[in-house]
This record gives sequence, C-alpha cells and structure tokens, in this order.
Amino acid sequence: MKYSYSILRSLIISSLLVATPLLVSAAEVNVYSYRKPQLIDPMFAAFTEQTGIKVNSVFAKKGMLERLQSEGANSPADLVFTVDIGRLSDIKNAGLTQSVDSARFAGHIPKNYQDPQGHWFGLTTRARIIVASKERVKIGEILSYEDLADPKWKDRICTRSGKHPYMVALTASMIAHHGAAGAKVWLAGLKSNLARKPKGNDRAQVKAVKEGECDVAVINHYYMANMLKDPEQVPWAESVNVLFPNQSDRGTHMNVSGVALTKHAPNRADAIKLMDFLAGSQGQQMYAQKNGEYPVKSGVAWNELQKSWGKFKEDSLSLAAIADNRAAAIRMADEVGYNN
Ligand SMILES: [Fe+2]
Repeated sequence: MKYSYSILRSLIISSLLVATPLLVSAAEVNVYSYRKPQLIDPMFAAFTEQTGIKVNSVFAKKGMLERLQSEGANSPADLVFTVDIGRLSDIKNAGLTQSVDSARFAGHIPKNYQDPQGHWFGLTTRARIIVASKERVKIGEILSYEDLADPKWKDRICTRSGKHPYMVALTASMIAHHGAAGAKVWLAGLKSNLARKPKGNDRAQVKAVKEGECDVAVINHYYMANMLKDPEQVPWAESVNVLFPNQSDRGTHMNVSGVALTKHAPNRADAIKLMDFLAGSQGQQMYAQKNGEYPVKSGVAWNELQKSWGKFKEDSLSLAAIADNRAAAIRMADEVGYNN
C-alpha cells in the first residue's frame, strides 16, 4: 500500500502527539498523603534517585476521601498514604481502591498488617504505649490496658479524645479481645479514671503528666522521640517511664501507617514500584531511622531510642479485625460519654 506524503506526515504527527504525553507521565507517581511531608519526602527522594520516577505528593489533613470521590475516574492520584487503619479502611470501603497481588510483599509485610483482599498494606507500625510519671508511679505498678480501668487510677489518667482514630483503634482491639460487653466495661472504667476531659494530642497528655495534672497517659511510641527533638518538650518526655502494655499476655496494641493503590491509578505500574521500594529494605530502614516508626519487615535495624527500649511482644491481632470493630468503638465512646 502506498501512503501519500500528507497522510504519512499526519500519521507521524499524531503518533508524536500520543507518544509525548505518555513519555512524560510514564515516569511519575501521584500521591495523596495524610502523612506530614517531612515524614515521607525523604523516602520519595530516595526512590526517585534509584528509579528516575518522580513522586508528586499532595498533603492533606482531612478531606482526602471526599476529594477522591469527587474526582472519580479523572483523579490523578495513584497512591494514598495514611497514618492509621481507620482511614485506610474507610477509603477501601468507599470503593476508591484496587487490589494489589499481596504475594509480591511476602517476606516484607506480615499478613496481619495487610487487607485480606490486598487493598491496603501497612508500611510501618506504631505501638500504643502507656507512659507513667517517674515520680508518682512505681515501675510495674501498671502493666496492661486492662489496668487503666482499675479504680486505683481514679482521677490520674489522661488521654486524647475517645473518638480520635488512635483511641478508636485501641478500643476496637479491646472489643476484638474481650467482646463488646467486656470492652464497654473497660472503656467506662477508663473514662471514670480520667483526670480531665479528653483534650489535645498525644504529646499534650505527656505534658499534663509533667505538670502533675495526671500520672499516666496513653500515647503512640514515636512521640517520645519527637518530644526529645524539641527543647521545650524534652522535660515532658523525661518526666515519664515508657511501658509496652500486655507483655505477659497478648502483647501491645499496634496500629499502622499504610498505603493503598487508588481504583483509577493512572500510573499503576510505577505506583506499585514505589510500594515495593517502601516495603523493601531501604525504605523500611529509612522509616525506622528517620521517623522512629517500627518497620513491618523483619530484620531491619531500629533507631537508637527503639533499641534502648528493646524488643517487645506485639499484639498479633489483624488490623482488618480492628477495622471491623471501629464503628462499634466510636459508638461505645459515645455510650460511655468518654469525651464529656
Ligand atoms: Fe501520630
């Protein structure tokens, strides 16, 4: 077949028009992140350096789910990063994610930190620890989450809102372990031991211990490292002992920071490469060394503070079970008037 010059020319031009945007977009991954940029940008930079794939990230404190919903199939987002199981499961339940073959993360991400259908994956874990005043609480005096409900702690405990995702996940784990009735007795007991109406973030609870407002608080472990980096907060951190609860039975409640591939990810293959990188040895080590988060991959070195606390037993409850009990946990906070 013979093409005329003008047909050939237009074929060449149209193939260039098609090829050009593909060449540009093939080397990019777009990220929507609930994680603060300083916690995750170094990992993205290392990934780009290794692969040449650029990572464009948008940070949002809230509203990610609504944004993904309204953008629909036109969303530029490939991956969503969150700091707890609640938001990961909300995004999955809204039908905004797609599954990734979890076999590729075998040996990197334990099963209990993955969605059973492969829609979300934990990349790091965070321990919900108890901290207690060095001056007013003897070591060994409090050992478990159950102890928080013991009347001996009346007016001595501080926590943040019972409806914050970190507290909701803890209550959800209590429901999984003790059943709804048992967990409700526990939550009501803890509520009646609060020294004040729940307010502030995790660090604010440690400050309240330092200032004598309460003797015991419940926080995520990495806030200890964060406080030690801030001169104003060093005395708060130094006023408490750290306790990993439930070491003699099921282990300490763990939450995750994690990632999900969006349903319409325009750069699916490269997005999965970024997931591989973050679940791999280099990404996992950066999470531990830079952020003090616990790597999900075993055998990855911890940072110095983590090493000083030593090994501990983690609750092996699946995060999916925690996600399933979240709605009940939120209702329970209302039923016991936790925040009143
Ligand atoms: Fe946090």
